[in-house]
Amino acid sequence: MRSFGCQMNDYDTGRLSDLLRDAQSYERTENLEEADLVVINTCSIREKAQEKVFSDLGRIREVKKERPEMRIAVGGCVASQEGENILKRAPWVDVVFGPQTLHRVPELLDERTRTGRAQVDVSFPEIEKFDHLPTPEAHGATAFVSIMEGCSKYCSYCVVPYTRGEEISRPLVDVLVEIAQLADQGVKEVTLLGQNVNAYRGVTPEGDTADFALLLDYVGQIDGIERIRYTTSHPREFTQRIIDCYERNPKLVSHVHLPVQSGSDRVLAAMKRGYTALEYKSIVRRLKKARPGISIATDIIVGFPGETAEDFEETMKLVEDVGFDASFSFVFSPRPGTPAARLPDDTPYEVKIERLQRLQAAIDAHAQRISESMLGNLERVLVLGPARRGEGYLMARTDNNRIVNFPGSPELINRMVTVRITEVYPHSLGGELVQED
Ligand code: SAH
Ligand code: SF4
Ligand code: F3S
Repeated sequence: MRSFGCQMNDYDTGRLSDLLRDAQSYERTENLEEADLVVINTCSIREKAQEKVFSDLGRIREVKKERPEMRIAVGGCVASQEGENILKRAPWVDVVFGPQTLHRVPELLDERTRTGRAQVDVSFPEIEKFDHLPTPEAHGATAFVSIMEGCSKYCSYCVVPYTRGEEISRPLVDVLVEIAQLADQGVKEVTLLGQNVNAYRGVTPEGDTADFALLLDYVGQIDGIERIRYTTSHPREFTQRIIDCYERNPKLVSHVHLPVQSGSDRVLAAMKRGYTALEYKSIVRRLKKARPGISIATDIIVGFPGETAEDFEETMKLVEDVGFDASFSFVFSPRPGTPAARLPDDTPYEVKIERLQRLQAAIDAHAQRISESMLGNLERVLVLGPARRGEGYLMARTDNNRIVNFPGSPELINRMVTVRITEVYPHSLGGELVQED
């Protein structure tokens, strides 16, 4: 089983793996040589991600030649967009499913065996896929919970609304029950997932609508949950109600991932993002007021069609003004079927790469400064497991999403502890244990 793309896709891969175990007794393996069923959960957000699918399928074909009874299923966003075309390019594939039909994979596999024909179902059924998935099991002290699916924003460069369908929120009680079940199994940190979690509109048992701020309040009241993260949120619906949660809910971590995409209003309009750079900065200013020291991460697209040197300088200026702590930044990739793919684009690729490198260097420098400012701080961290650096060291995550390694005994794994930050590295911190919880 291999998963590409965003955390939503990783989440789907995990849930599908549980379903296949319960329904058809498959055990997950990453070893192609021993697999009876190969599942590739694909991503089409950028060209590079999409290319991966067909090169992987070529390799898997060679294995299938030796073992013709092996089954191959392709899901995710490439499958959703390509549907039957996957079978035209790779007729050795057995099942093609989409992000909203993954609960049907066991049936599709049975149907493939019964009929001898490949099966394709990339529809967006009305029914909730969650009703057909097994109760999630905790693996350690952190867990992801999908709260809404799809996206209705239609940014001009993006495939997601076409591959995942329109925004649908899970009912409030379903989300809360799932989190309470995870908390009962020892989960302390929950990450709420969705393309735009702040577009959450869940129905309450009374038939009213619960917004994201209300959901955050309820999640904060679940016993055992000590930390709440979420990803991704959209500046357009980042309401004052959500910002206010940072004042009253200490379980909400001091870290927000809030994609801005560009600092130029002209480019933001062409992207159809629905806000200006000033509006974005206003959200950040209010967030910093509600939660001093909050860390802000973002996504930026460099070299959108028509982005001039001046537009890019505005992005650099925004980066300085906000002081981003991390970013996923990429060069624009024209995606077939999206309006931006048809826009004239005369900026040479090398210029775009230079811009990207400047941008990333600026954000890395901010991140380094923020890390250095943490030196000597006492940080309450969640211990995730043994550190990669070796014997006797543990790995934990700080509130602002940094990995800290420190010497400690394995009994501390999955617990909250307090460490003092003693070392700063480019991608992690070093510390010493001060107090167990
Ligand atoms: N829903 C989130 C982002 C989802 S996609 C949001 O709106 O903020 C993750 C990131 O991929 C986006 O934030 C964007 O920066 C990047 N991305 C999406 N389409 C892209 C494209 N065509 N080219 C380059 N990057 C893209
Ligand atoms: Fe894509 Fe825009 Fe939706 Fe994010 S909000 S998933 S970038 S269409
Ligand atoms: Fe990729 Fe689809 Fe996620 S395109 S980023 S897997 S929503």
